[in-house]
Amino acid sequence: MNVNSVFKFLVLSASITCAGVCAYGAAPARVYDVEFIECAKCPYRMRVSDDGKKAYINLSRIDAARKDAMKKRAERFLDLAGSVKSANPMTPLMGWSSWNTFGAEISEGVIVETARAMATNGLKEAGYVYVNLDDGFFDGRYPDGRLRIHARRFPEGLKGTVDTIHALGMKAGIYSDAGTNTCASFGGEKGGKGAGLWGHDAEDCKLFFNELEFDFFKVDYCGGYQQKLVERDRFTEISKAIKATGRDVHYNICRWAFPGAWAADVSHSWRTSGDIRADWEVVKFIVTNSLYLASYAKPGRFNDLDMLEAGMLKGKVKSAFGKTDPGLTREEELSHFGMWCIMTSPLVLGCDVRNMDAESLKLVTNPYLLKMNQDPLALQAYVAAREGETYLLVKDAFERYGKSRWVALYNADDIEKEFTIKARDLDLGGRIAAFDLVERADIGEFEGEVTVRVRPHSSKFYLFDASSRLERTRYEAEGSFLAEYDNLGGRCQVGRIVPKWYDVEGASGGIVVANLGGNDKNHLTWKDVHVSRPGRYVLTLRVRSDKESVFNIHVDKSKAETVVVPASAKPEFKDVAVAFDLTKGSHEISIYNFKAILPEIDCLTVTPCR
Ligand code: GLA
Repeated sequence: MNVNSVFKFLVLSASITCAGVCAYGAAPARVYDVEFIECAKCPYRMRVSDDGKKAYINLSRIDAARKDAMKKRAERFLDLAGSVKSANPMTPLMGWSSWNTFGAEISEGVIVETARAMATNGLKEAGYVYVNLDDGFFDGRYPDGRLRIHARRFPEGLKGTVDTIHALGMKAGIYSDAGTNTCASFGGEKGGKGAGLWGHDAEDCKLFFNELEFDFFKVDYCGGYQQKLVERDRFTEISKAIKATGRDVHYNICRWAFPGAWAADVSHSWRTSGDIRADWEVVKFIVTNSLYLASYAKPGRFNDLDMLEAGMLKGKVKSAFGKTDPGLTREEELSHFGMWCIMTSPLVLGCDVRNMDAESLKLVTNPYLLKMNQDPLALQAYVAAREGETYLLVKDAFERYGKSRWVALYNADDIEKEFTIKARDLDLGGRIAAFDLVERADIGEFEGEVTVRVRPHSSKFYLFDASSRLERTRYEAEGSFLAEYDNLGGRCQVGRIVPKWYDVEGASGGIVVANLGGNDKNHLTWKDVHVSRPGRYVLTLRVRSDKESVFNIHVDKSKAETVVVPASAKPEFKDVAVAFDLTKGSHEISIYNFKAILPEIDCLTVTPCR
């Protein structure tokens, strides 16, 4: 590292802001107002006011020659401070759900008050338009099989609730189970017994979507699990019943683990873990569980990291689940919300939004974090670098392979970390301007690398604008598309080979993928190996094995080469290389062996032949 060539800065701790040091914007703001200020002590070069209407450029931190360029940049960030397109089916769903705060104890009053609060406190305007009823609204079935609605909680039935939500310009969501009994019924909620979809798909979907006109459907699996139903078959049947109603319904699979790549063919989002709690350890577990699932998401199809616990702060938690919700610190709340944003998860609030903490409200309506979540490319960020429990994640912003990228530095560790972000890991080159999404400010520029200090359990979220985009050369196996991967733990799939990843010392990114091959389905594919110039490229696979193995590398399902990995006395890392002609653009590179298990795969590097 050439320290001299590097512009080093340490990001100031979140508590230090310009407020109080110098006066930022007490004057009434007009739309798209850019003002130049002189403030030697202000840490920012440019800052957008909290209402998103005014930007301040700090002349003591920029060259006079760059005034015009900075003004354009400020205008760009003022533009970006606008609201996201609401209920865009191609980007993650945004809304609220009753479960985290109320459990099964919901009512027409609570739901309607919540919808009204969202319509007036800025949440709806920020894009949170779905109001979802979770478990607790039913009371078994009538003798003829029709669903009975809980008379104390919804004395007028559900139609009035849905109509009120719609009249507010919002959307309404409903819940059921793939089996006979809903999850709450296992915890003593009698009304959920027999209320699940099993044996009632068509009639319940008709009721929910044609008669009551709900717009969202979460389908849980407690009953399905108990009845040992096969996930893929059951959730596919339900998707057919929803389609048969002719309504455009967002269908969410709730199987508490990544269910498999098939979920994207039948649903719009699928849970990747068990239930979230307002507890840092649970939030951290969910993030860890979902870090390498980016390749299964695509526009309109998303990994669901579960409902949000933002607003559930230590000492102030209002939840249905007592001590299992100890609450989050401010920094944990930021990491949690920001990571849901960059990992392109649905954003479904779970706190009591009728009287939401002002700082939490500001966080979840932060227009830049929301733009990162709702970016039209709808990409989930992938892990670009890792040091222990500190991760650097990145995804393109606005344009594929462009010069702007959303970046997160997530510190899951219990100690403060100093992390050197290398521009090469982000495939960015030249000078890079860093906009801090939480501070709403330009914090500086760097070239090559920059060292950032990040507090325990805290995170930084940026938009990086670079002067050039570099070709990606390294593709991790843990970030690839594993056609047969799921996290269901082998239930109902006896004899199937399921790939798995695990930590191995010396592995690139710290992880290898094992259990690939053995049949024609169980392959690994890097779906987006992109080259900007046509030509001959060397594809080097880093594998780990002791036995000799032979397998195929395919490019775009057409060209193939066979590679041979030699045997060794003990399992060790080995490089095997093949060359292919690649056209300009994106390519799919797959690894197959229809008969034998492949060696453990670490990563692929793609470099032009010289
Ligand atoms: C399961 C789900 C939760 C919630 C409850 C309702 O635990 O994972 O999100 O829907 O059921 O009973």
